[in-house]
Order: sequence, then structure tokens, then C-alpha cells
Amino acid sequence: MVGRRIVVVVDVLRASSTIVEALVNGARSVLPVPSVDEAVRKAEELGRDSVVLCGERESQPIRGFHLGNSPQEFTRGRVEDRAVIMTTTNGTVAVLAAAGASRCYIGSILNVGAIARRLAEHDDDVLLLCAGKEGGFAAEDALCAGRILRRVREHTRVVLGNDAAITAVRLTGKRPVAARALARTAAGRQLRQIGRAEDIVFCAQEDRHDSVPVLEDHRLQL
Ligand code: MLT
Repeated sequence: MVGRRIVVVVDVLRASSTIVEALVNGARSVLPVPSVDEAVRKAEELGRDSVVLCGERESQPIRGFHLGNSPQEFTRGRVEDRAVIMTTTNGTVAVLAAAGASRCYIGSILNVGAIARRLAEHDDDVLLLCAGKEGGFAAEDALCAGRILRRVREHTRVVLGNDAAITAVRLTGKRPVAARALARTAAGRQLRQIGRAEDIVFCAQEDRHDSVPVLEDHRLQL
């Protein structure tokens, strides 16, 4: 699907946000894996004491894992110099689907400006791969895609390639996405129902970081 294009994987609530936060806080890398069993196998291979097992199913932490998928859990004290092995419902599935791209970046609201500057350096076609929710449309990812496209326009001319891109730009304005807009989405409601409303506010912090995770040899690094 992705061909040899440049791909930005967007999963605002919450995998992309968690990946950015973990790497900025010193994680050596983030390894996206497709299943809980594969995550446990990878941890045994790398040495359970040198890794952080994390992720979610139905937004809840996975039993026996070190962390869930709340980005603010990924503090320097917990992740510095460790490989983070991650499996989530939507975000890591999208990253694995983008593995064949010529270049794969991780985009979130936390690093919108950094992503926009990186994309402006390229002349190639770019695919903003919105992870969505359980195979369906996720408004928070479209909002983030719209902000990325608007921010790229600060640096270079942007040709919108399809109706999804046109709609994403129209969904957003000159101002950052408000946390309450994320809270109204299906993913936002699900997080509120399990008592994780604080994750929504955290994931809405536009330009919290100036870093761009890149996928190299099946692992994400800065
Ligand atoms: C994910 O990040 O893959 C999922 O979208 C849901 C979550 O983290 O709760």
C-alpha cells in the first residue's frame, strides 16, 4: 500500500504521542511488534531487564507489561537507555504496515512543527497514514494530519493529493487542535470512560517536542 513513498504514521491517541515522548526521554529505540506473544518473545531475546514492555488492548495496559500506552508514563527514569517494545491496537499496526516505505516518520500533535519542517525538505509524495480506530476513521488523526499540512505550508508549497487531505486541512484552522476536540472523538470517549482523560490533554500539546522518530531496521529512533 505504501510503496516507496515517504510515510508519516499518525496515531494521536495514543501510540504516536507515546513513541515521541519515550524517545525524547532517552529510550534507545521503540520496537513496534504485532502481538503480545511477539512482544514477550522479543523481551526474552533482548533481556527482560534491559527493555520496557508496553502497549494496550482496548486502551487498557497489558497484564505483565511494565507500562501501558499513556505517554506521560514514559519518563526518563523509566525508559532512558532502554529498548521499548510496543504493541497497540492501531498505532503499531500502522507502523508495521509502513515498513516498506522509502522513509517512515512518526507524527503526532506533540511534534507537528518538527514533522512539517522535515516534510518540507522532501520533494517526494508524502502519505499521511492515519492509524484510525479498529480499522475505521479516527477524527483525531485527521485533525493532526490537517495541522501537519497547514504547518508544511509555512515552509513550502503543498499540493493536496486527495479528498482526505483536502478535508483534513478544512477540519483544522490556524490554531492548534483543542483538547476538547480530541475528547469528543471515539478514542477520546473511550479514554475518558477508563479514567485516562489526562492522556487527552497531554496528547493535545502542539509542539511539545521538536523531534522526529524515524523507522530504521524495524525500530524507531530519533
Ligand atoms: C493505539 O494507540 O494504538 C490505540 O489507538 C489506542 C490506545 O492507545 O488507547
